[in-house]
Amino acid sequence: MCWSMSPSLMAMSTEQQNTYNQSLETMYQKGVKNMYDNGIEHVPVKYILPAAERPNANAANSVPEVNLELPVIDLAELQGPNRSQVLESLAYACQNFGFFQLVNHGISEEVTSNMVDVGKRFFEMPFAEREKYMSADMSSPVRYGTSFNQTNDGVFCWRDFLKLVCHPLPDVLPLWPTSPLDFRQLGVTYAKETRSLFMMVVEAILESLGLKTDTDKKTEKYEDVDEVVGIKNEIENGSQLMVVNCYPACPQPDLTLGMPPHSDYGFLTLLLQDDVKGLQIQHRNKWVTVQPIPGSFVVNVGDHLEIFSNGRYKSVLHRVLVNSTKHRISVASLHSLPFTSTVRPSPKLITHTNPRLYKDTNFADFVAYLKTCDSKKKNFLESRKIEQTQ
Ligand code: OGA
Ligand code: NI
Repeated sequence: MCWSMSPSLMAMSTEQQNTYNQSLETMYQKGVKNMYDNGIEHVPVKYILPAAERPNANAANSVPEVNLELPVIDLAELQGPNRSQVLESLAYACQNFGFFQLVNHGISEEVTSNMVDVGKRFFEMPFAEREKYMSADMSSPVRYGTSFNQTNDGVFCWRDFLKLVCHPLPDVLPLWPTSPLDFRQLGVTYAKETRSLFMMVVEAILESLGLKTDTDKKTEKYEDVDEVVGIKNEIENGSQLMVVNCYPACPQPDLTLGMPPHSDYGFLTLLLQDDVKGLQIQHRNKWVTVQPIPGSFVVNVGDHLEIFSNGRYKSVLHRVLVNSTKHRISVASLHSLPFTSTVRPSPKLITHTNPRLYKDTNFADFVAYLKTCDSKKKNFLESRKIEQTQ
């Protein structure tokens, strides 16, 4: 049995121990915000990672924070006369970092700060209010939960979340939380604006991959244009999922993580974070901290874009650290093709020297994968790779 058992626990009968363990499990299922509110002083065993997976394992593998500045992409500049240079920076960022910070993106400070604020207020409500949105069904359009996958995770992580399907809005909105009272209104504005921003960024990303829609048809092969029009149509009708992440302060932040290493499933993720740092990305085999730029978005390539670009753009592992003094809120907006679409490498990016690297995939494959994997080993992308014979 467990090494941290207290003497009183050792004196319990098996039956008493079972009841005790069940009550602990019930507490864990209620999430970390609830535990924090109840004044927890130590990280329970359930959240303690094996030494090799803790934030400071291999200290040599983290770089001093000042060393990494994510590439910054200025959206206003992208729309101006320097578009081609900015597209080059964008391609460089997606190939070498899988991440960039997006500034001058046109979404007002009011809209972004309102979203973070209402997310914060959601988690400040009494547990009984939040509990209404808990669901074990992974495909439920509104789902409040804790850890990564609370039915599968061996070790839990220090995070509660609220996941909201955002598309098509008229179908899902009636299911969104009704409290705080302004949640729907602020959430909808934010979801719509991030969706248009995503469209703009995706257009630039396709262009940076050499896939352009407004090409002069006289000089381009028709099928190329058709392919790009096709993918853009799918993206326009694509899925959108918003995740409000809540990382309460943690009494022993070196023992656990807010989110284990993972890559994002979709095409692109637009992440809004408050001013508390915590996000780390894997860069050249080291974990590096992303310094928040107030009001900017951290944008990252997801598995679908890596597949679509036939490996040119990278869906990079990232994780979240927690800290002992500050709560942190982030809002991730995950965008992809419709749930029913098949994702495959763009034919234009498959050549003799760059053969097809990934199998076709779809949402059903992903859900099947998620149900069987432990989040710590979440590596859906690996399972889609085609083994190269030479
Ligand atoms: C995510 C994610 C990072 C963060 O939601 O997939 O990686 O900083 N979030 O919350
Ligand atoms: Ni992520």
